[in-house]
Amino acid sequence: MSGELSPIDKAKYVAAKRAVDFVEDGMRVGLGTGSTAAWMVRCLGEMVREDGLRIKGVPTSTRTAELARDVGIEVISLDEAKWLDVTIDGADEFDGDLNLIKGGGGALLQEKIVATASDQMIVITDASKEVEHLGSFPLPIEVIPFGWQTSKSLVEEMLISMDVLGRDATLRMNGDHPYVTDEGNHILDLHLGRIGNARQLSLVLNQVPGVVENGLFVDICDVVVLGYGDGRVETRDINEGTVQEDRLDFVESDNLFTDMMD
Ligand code: 5RP
Repeated sequence: MSGELSPIDKAKYVAAKRAVDFVEDGMRVGLGTGSTAAWMVRCLGEMVREDGLRIKGVPTSTRTAELARDVGIEVISLDEAKWLDVTIDGADEFDGDLNLIKGGGGALLQEKIVATASDQMIVITDASKEVEHLGSFPLPIEVIPFGWQTSKSLVEEMLISMDVLGRDATLRMNGDHPYVTDEGNHILDLHLGRIGNARQLSLVLNQVPGVVENGLFVDICDVVVLGYGDGRVETRDINEGTVQEDRLDFVESDNLFTDMMD
């Protein structure tokens, strides 16, 4: 092993490791995007290679598709799958009702379509993502490139009548150029501070011409698996109203864990 994982990476790893327990043979699985979701994809790949798990994965980004194929997961499109048994993804924020802000990694559009087309959405996260009120993390919205500055002005104007603290929208950049999503669109990050009514905001944002989708996931997530750096894992199920606590050991001989360190 070439070094020690940071506590935050250990937290992401144990959340991912626990979440893949929800995946059963024959399932069609939505594969999220981001550093936490990448742990989950690697865990699933290990189960495919070593335990003979048979699944079909629907990735939510080109990045995830590449990783999934690399680790041995059969990748299909959402149109081929039509409907999914479960989607496992990360989040940028979640609140007590398991409403989310997503899109920090720029994949919110495909992530929302895939999660919505799933019997169950499981979010894997570390404790830093839990908030009382959504909105500290800038809310990403995906806008088409045509007339994006007009869409930005319309969004800022619309925000005047919304229950939010801030109204600044910034175009997400990739170096000197606007960030481009897998669908060829741009992202505006909305610096709202605090979102009073996420459901209303989500509906109204999607009415603005040029806005394709927003990063608010309201009533989509069913379970949050919360990992801690010491191996503790908390699984909160909003439908069942249950909280289950486990502890996962970091095993030096765990192939996946050691592979990730190299
Ligand atoms: C990508 C996302 C990610 O799930 C979110 O940004 C969390 O990423 P990470 O696990 O790297 O913190 O929404 O669009």
